[in-house]
Amino acid sequence: MKALLLESIHPFAESILREAGFEVETRTGALDEPELIDALQGVDVVGIRSKTEITPTVLEKAGGLTAIGAFCIGTNQIALDDAATRGIATFNAPFSNTRSVVELAIAEIIAMARRLTEKDSSLHKGVWDKNSKGSHEIRGRKLGIVGYGNIGSQLSVVAEMLGLQVYFYDTDDKLAMGNAHRCGSLDELLETAEVITLHVDGRAGNAGFFGAEQFAKMRPRSLFLNLSRGFVVDYDSLRENLLSGHIAGAAVDVFPTEPKKRGEAFESPLQGIPNVILTPHVGGSTEEAQEDIGRFVAGKLRDYVERGTTTLSVNLPSLTLEERAGAGEGRRITHLHRNTPGVLAKVNSILAEHGVNIEGQLLNTRGENGYVVTDVAQLPDAAITDLRAMPETIQLRIIG
Ligand SMILES: NC(=O)c1ccc[n+]([C@@H]2O[C@H](COP(=O)([O-])OP(=O)(O)OC[C@H]3O[C@@H](n4cnc5c(N)ncnc54)[C@H](O)[C@@H]3O)[C@@H](O)[C@H]2O)c1
Repeated sequence: MKALLLESIHPFAESILREAGFEVETRTGALDEPELIDALQGVDVVGIRSKTEITPTVLEKAGGLTAIGAFCIGTNQIALDDAATRGIATFNAPFSNTRSVVELAIAEIIAMARRLTEKDSSLHKGVWDKNSKGSHEIRGRKLGIVGYGNIGSQLSVVAEMLGLQVYFYDTDDKLAMGNAHRCGSLDELLETAEVITLHVDGRAGNAGFFGAEQFAKMRPRSLFLNLSRGFVVDYDSLRENLLSGHIAGAAVDVFPTEPKKRGEAFESPLQGIPNVILTPHVGGSTEEAQEDIGRFVAGKLRDYVERGTTTLSVNLPSLTLEERAGAGEGRRITHLHRNTPGVLAKVNSILAEHGVNIEGQLLNTRGENGYVVTDVAQLPDAAITDLRAMPETIQLRIIG
């Protein structure tokens, strides 16, 4: 098997794949469409980050791809449905930078409460502004988390360890961590907390969901953070609330439009306002997160190729599979198919016709695709031919 890793993916990924027996080629940059199509000839597994686009044309012309690893969080750069239709499993790293985002949020809450950016900038200008006015401890303060998913719930745990009282609101019914208090509505949270931090996901319905009405409901002189998605907040309204003093400070890491490249110019209505911390979408950008992304995604690619495991795949039905018992003797058939009634019965009747003994079998479906994995004691070539010839078959792999 051959793997191509683009965009300077962490070396952990290369070593995991090499250990699993892959021949690995690495490149530092992203490739455009024609270059990528060329580079993918003879490649089984490709690893990319956010700058390489895997379009329907790339998938059509790439030939023999088995899996794609997105060594990042987002997968917008990949034609996921097309990949699924061609039986190409895609994996990403949804949790690898959770802790990094949480730590930045905590640092920013303390920095805003102590007005650190103002003190820092005064002293750099030679002004010794030693005074305690407007500087606060965070101990005992009420933190309001909007969106209690991977990041929100981990922030809840770390914030409690620092003595904050945690309140949260989530549209889903989430388990409260530690002593965190669930609010029944966003309004209840806004009226209670002194620091509001957004960690909602990027679903379309969240566009502009936090604006003038929500800022007005926040307690006077509270702090506001957004490290989720830029388009969920009305930043003009945040600016007005900062200038009027209703909001005492803000930390913003994500923006509705962000420069594509490092060094490009950037503009925001929040620039130049005191006690406002602006960061260039670096919440999850740490060396530790990159290392974990390399480990996590390479592990998923290896497990898919070696065992057929699709756990946490973003486009195929999920199956968690153990290594085949009695390795070396039997074989594992992974059969990705169009999800129509009777496919499992057909697979099993083909195996029965050829006298194949089934040792174990698992099935799962996702939208238009079904995935059945069957461990067998022996497998004649004729059975493989018949399974491959089924009109519903998208991809058949024999492992072992
Ligand atoms: N700044 C960064 O560098 C960085 C890094 C990683 C993730 N993120 C962003 O952080 C956000 C959270 O990531 P996550 O991994 O915790 O996601 P997640 O999917 O685990 O959690 C999101 C939570 O928000 C809830 N939610 C969605 N809409 C809501 C609404 N309108 N009101 C209340 N709750 C709502 C969901 O039910 C879910 O529990 C995402 O938008 C992600 O893109 C940013």
